[in-house]
Amino acid sequence: MKTYDIVTFGDLCVDLIMTGGDIVPRFGQVEQLVDSYSLEMGGSCSIFACQAAKLGLRVGILGCVGDDNFGELVIRRLEECGVDTGYVRVDPTLKTGLGLALCKDGDRAILTYPGTLSALTPADVTDEFLASARHLHYGSFFLHTGLKPQAPEIVQRARDLGLSVSLDTNWDPDEAWNSTLQAVLPRVNVFLPNEQEARFISRRDSLSAAAVRLREQGVGLVAVKRGAAGAEVFAPEGHYVRNIAPADPGGDGIGAGDSFDAGFLAAWLRDMDVARSLEIACRCGRSVAGRIGGLEGQPTWDEVTQKFDRQV
Ligand SMILES: Nc1ncnc2c1ncn2[C@@H]1O[C@H](COP(=O)(O)OP(=O)(O)OP(=O)(O)O)[C@@H](O)[C@H]1O
Ligand SMILES: [Mg+2]
Repeated sequence: MKTYDIVTFGDLCVDLIMTGGDIVPRFGQVEQLVDSYSLEMGGSCSIFACQAAKLGLRVGILGCVGDDNFGELVIRRLEECGVDTGYVRVDPTLKTGLGLALCKDGDRAILTYPGTLSALTPADVTDEFLASARHLHYGSFFLHTGLKPQAPEIVQRARDLGLSVSLDTNWDPDEAWNSTLQAVLPRVNVFLPNEQEARFISRRDSLSAAAVRLREQGVGLVAVKRGAAGAEVFAPEGHYVRNIAPADPGGDGIGAGDSFDAGFLAAWLRDMDVARSLEIACRCGRSVAGRIGGLEGQPTWDEVTQKFDRQV
């Protein structure tokens, strides 16, 4: 019996989200007033971990925070959501990562101080940690700069220890879409890019050509997120398309992709079929897309199955 269903590498940080008003900064010591702000735990993998735990999975997260108030906030939020923080260490030499997001008209600009967000090194990823779980979810591939050089070895080690592996690279800030990623792909059971990422990584122009290429490279199953247009899965069993009703207005879309990932895996790891896993994933993504921040709209397993089934 493993301790965890899923382990993940935490890009631990907080997001300070400012919205509305005179939001575009002007230098020259100008002071401007904005309408509102929220301060919340950020990080794609942290948001993923919280959604997975709310869906009833036993989740462990590896990462570090600074010895500061933001670090305390991150640990408190993870624990409130049911994520085990036993593998989160407090590093007094680092500051907790911070994203400052300025949001207007459905768009956002983000200034990021990485700090603890990218502090993990391959030595942190012990066999003991990996062997404690059934499944490894590797998120924020390009932001975990310390892990990247050894990523193929880490993923291979996970597979050798009997784990299945999922990957969500998210955006590549260098826009090179390479590094060691190409060597990781053949070892991945479930790949969860959005449409743009899938096309850039596979170097193909269309979604279907991208999926074919990724599967040729050895990826087991490709689940592609398409925002308000829903999502598609390309699997050995076939091609599945899921359209979805628009999310509630007023959301900022933050974390929709991460909650989609957790929804898909929560069903997939319960041996549900691809169509059902895709449906649950889309419900999680849509629910979060309609709220502010990545945590607010995250449903529980009961909500995403029974309650939603009654509504449909
Ligand atoms: N506006 C929306 N209306 C309905 N559903 C949505 C909306 N936005 C996202 N979703 C749902 O959430 C899923 C994931 O969202 P999206 O495609 O934005 O992922 P992403 O680009 O990986 O996002 P992230 O910014 O979190 O990395 C979609 O496939 C869809 O099911
Ligand atoms: Mg994403």
